[in-house]
Amino acid sequence: MTVITNIEDLRVLAKRRVPRMFYEYADSGSWTESTYHANESDLQNIKLRQRVAVNLEGRSTATQMVGIDVAMPVAIAPTGLAGMQHADGEILAARAAERFGVPFTLSTMSICSIEDVAAHTQKPFWFQLYVMRDRDFIERLIDRAKAANCSALVLTLDLQIIGQRHRDLKNGLSAPPRLTLANLVNMASRPRWCLGMARTPRRQFGNIVGHVKGIDDMGTLAQWTAQQFDPRLNWDDVQWIKQRWGGKLILKGIQDAEDAQLALDSGADAVIVSNHGGRQLDGAESSIRALPGIVDAVGSKMEVHMDGGIRSGQDVLKAVALGAKGTYIGRSFLYGLGAMGEQGVTRALEIIHNELDLTMAFCGRTQLAQVDRSILLPGTFAEVSAQG
Ligand code: GLV
Repeated sequence: MTVITNIEDLRVLAKRRVPRMFYEYADSGSWTESTYHANESDLQNIKLRQRVAVNLEGRSTATQMVGIDVAMPVAIAPTGLAGMQHADGEILAARAAERFGVPFTLSTMSICSIEDVAAHTQKPFWFQLYVMRDRDFIERLIDRAKAANCSALVLTLDLQIIGQRHRDLKNGLSAPPRLTLANLVNMASRPRWCLGMARTPRRQFGNIVGHVKGIDDMGTLAQWTAQQFDPRLNWDDVQWIKQRWGGKLILKGIQDAEDAQLALDSGADAVIVSNHGGRQLDGAESSIRALPGIVDAVGSKMEVHMDGGIRSGQDVLKAVALGAKGTYIGRSFLYGLGAMGEQGVTRALEIIHNELDLTMAFCGRTQLAQVDRSILLPGTFAEVSAQG
């Protein structure tokens, strides 16, 4: 096998090893995918200031996110169906994250359940909540996350309704996959994946199936979300969820300074500047462009995190320079997972950590506390902030 040196290598390997339906679920955005691609390209367009002859000994990327020690300002983002990229995917990714010293966020739409991940890990992980119409179920989910000792709740606010992803519809995305001729032919060319899936009992939405009456066949993801997710979700809901949860609360999906202010008023501990990886509002601003405006609006009063387009340590550093106290990787870890399971997630984290450490050093900084907008070339930053 070729030596894996960057996230793109993991993506290429994952594309070969994961059935098309699940690979494309990860590697796609809504409609024209303009926001999905802008998340990456806007990060790349930001230029860094090289500094030299600075003592670079004693470097550290360690910091905190919502008061929790992290080896670098990178958490594993909640992503649906991680357990379909690789058998037992959420358990493997959670283990890789805990060994590395970064938070793992389990999605409501995971394959492995909250209890299952808790039983196979040592340290607390974070739980991401989607609000569904069945509020009793949501209350039970919150209680289950508490019982599993989850150390933060990430409440997603930007998916009351689902953006159209052409490829998911064309592939009839479902979990487990329907055994149509096309799917069978495609899966036959991924024997490693098939073997893993044949060996695990974890093939359905573990937090949902068996916990909600009448749900044992969820149809396609798009149909199920349209039926179950609550389109009425509003700021009052954030209040009761905060009260019921009682712990650290992170609000995900903020792109607008007015919403950031409402998030601050709600008493949340942090917001995640996010357009859901370009999977919801196609045409929304990239996350990195939205970040400075949100930091200016609320960053002195609450932590601002960011996701969307983070494929390298350079990207993490740019987000930190623009005021993010933490970032999240979704596709970057999913590619590692699909490519090589737990080892692949570890590799993704090592790659990003190494890039972050060295790039921070090339900018003449040894600690993240020394990283701010001054490490960015003024021209580039002015262009980003003017539109952000
Ligand atoms: C969320 O579950 C998504 O598919 O983006």
